[in-house]
Amino acid sequence: MDLRNTLSDKPLMGLFRLMRDYRLIYLGATLSLGVAAAARTGTYLLLGQFVDNILGNESAAQSLPLVALGFLGLAVVTGVFTFLSGTLAARTSESIAQRLRNYIYDHIQRLTFTYHDQTKTGELIQRSTSDIDAVRRFFAEQAIGAGRIFLLFIVNLIALLYLNWQLALYSIIIVPFTILMSFFFFQRVSKAYEAYQEQDAVLSNTLQENLSGVRVVKAFARQAYERDKFDVENWEKFTRGRRLLLMHSLYWPISDILTGGQMLAGFTIGAIMAINGEISVGTYLSYAGMVIWIIWPIRNLGRLIVQMSTGMVSFKRITEVIQQEREPLDEGDYIPGDCVQGKFVFDDVSFAYEEENPVLQNISFECEPGQIIALIGSTGSGKTTLANLLPRFYEYTDGSITLDGVELKRYPRNYLRGQIGVVEQEPFLFSRTIRENITYGVDRQVPEEEVIAAAKAAAVHDSIVSFPNGYDTLVGEKGVTLSGGQKQRLAIARTIVKDPRILILDDATSSVDMETETEIRAALERLMENRTTPSAQLRTSFIIAHRIQSVMIADLIVVLDHGRIVQIGSHEELLGQEGTYRVIFDIQTRIEAELEKEITSVGQDAQSVSTQ
Ligand code: GTP
Ligand code: MG
Repeated sequence: MDLRNTLSDKPLMGLFRLMRDYRLIYLGATLSLGVAAAARTGTYLLLGQFVDNILGNESAAQSLPLVALGFLGLAVVTGVFTFLSGTLAARTSESIAQRLRNYIYDHIQRLTFTYHDQTKTGELIQRSTSDIDAVRRFFAEQAIGAGRIFLLFIVNLIALLYLNWQLALYSIIIVPFTILMSFFFFQRVSKAYEAYQEQDAVLSNTLQENLSGVRVVKAFARQAYERDKFDVENWEKFTRGRRLLLMHSLYWPISDILTGGQMLAGFTIGAIMAINGEISVGTYLSYAGMVIWIIWPIRNLGRLIVQMSTGMVSFKRITEVIQQEREPLDEGDYIPGDCVQGKFVFDDVSFAYEEENPVLQNISFECEPGQIIALIGSTGSGKTTLANLLPRFYEYTDGSITLDGVELKRYPRNYLRGQIGVVEQEPFLFSRTIRENITYGVDRQVPEEEVIAAAKAAAVHDSIVSFPNGYDTLVGEKGVTLSGGQKQRLAIARTIVKDPRILILDDATSSVDMETETEIRAALERLMENRTTPSAQLRTSFIIAHRIQSVMIADLIVVLDHGRIVQIGSHEELLGQEGTYRVIFDIQTRIEAELEKEITSVGQDAQSVSTQ
């Protein structure tokens, strides 16, 4: 069952739909409760009979063992069935929570890039953990509690009516008052709890951000500032928590006064009736036992209704995430029989993350399969954004991009992403072993030689073998902390193993020195040449870089500025023109020349010092 079908604007309805697959178990749990309730009530009825007919009646004394056996039997039945219903309810609620957790985890990964750009991580963590737990409690405690309360009330009321109907009616006078009061509190608790959960999310987000950015905090010596910021949010959580608790603590005394008054009245009226001989002592004793079990459900009904509000608010918060549209990964009607060739044509493409604020405008260029296209331009000019359009991370808003003559939007995203390998600007590595990180993108079993070949091509093999556990070294908190350059190279190795038809290197060698960069590029080219299938050799590569040396080898260089193409052509063509490219080239060559001069002069100084 797709859990999205359980969605409903009414949380209670949605929650009960979630239970659909477990209705038999729940029925079992409820029936067990019914048996336990009946057995308990039976104990009080037996007590009444015992007092009235056996106690002080010599002729009935021989049935004493039977009565004892009866009490024992009823106690065992009550215990066994109470346990049974508890176990069944716990199993169901854990299963529902587990399914919900799996579902939301899977769902979050399928949401669009835009949704993730706009949503805080802490918020999503909150909804996948604490809110799901509130829903679990709803099923473990409140849903089964509702059955329990209903059954206890009904069974005992019937027994009371059978004993003495006037007394029975006295005992339920407060029911309407309790229900009214519960609904009054229900609304307030819902609001208070929602506010509390929202603040809890803010707090987890603050914490999460602070932990990820702990280096920045320390580097700027902002610990005090961050602590105060946290303190403010934490105080707010405390205040909201206090408000929530106040609601609960107000509810209890009021409800206790109501039910206590009811019980006192019931006992007194019963006692007067017994004194007047209207009922027997045995009946009075049975009544006294049962009335507790009729008041208890009434008292707990209120608590239940109030507690249910937390489950419902949490379910609503989970629903908000589940309702988000997924990125349709398989949508698209075109899958070429073979792999793609890699001919791209951009025709007047525009894109905006937010309406009214275009990031790319009128982008037009084309490339042949196997060509290298370099994107260069100042920071924020839209290079990454342009590259992100190719695997359909985002959809271009205007114009057209075709791949091998077919509109990009016709390719299913999953297919396209299988064909394109991206080495991101800020690569992310998982807290797994280096080998697992390198083979992350593929489903097949990757032979050791291939992993090593990829690592060598990415010029990271030597660093890996210098780690204590080599390729089995863990990355992250429990293992090695990698340098920026090492991370980039691992990301390159990961992409080499994936062996995509189209390659995007987004500043992939920015943390790598020039010499290593040349090595990596040579290795990549070698890998390309060694392909066996003819189509595999045609690999189009997009290189984003700031260094002229990295882009000059490209067949086509696209110079971007503020989201527009300002220059386009080969290295030689662009050098022959006035414009940004030549400016960047001049600056970079001048800096290099100066650097070289300085190095040689230091070298000469050193020589003259040593010869003196
Ligand atoms: P560098 O990587 O620094 O060299 O820049 P770039 O050329 O790769 O720029 P990028 O494509 O990342 O950004 C282009 C513009 O889009 C910038 O003005 C960013 O502020 C903006 N931008 C980037 N990502 C997002 C996003 O997720 N949402 C929104 N609203 N704007 C974004
Ligand atoms: Mg970028």
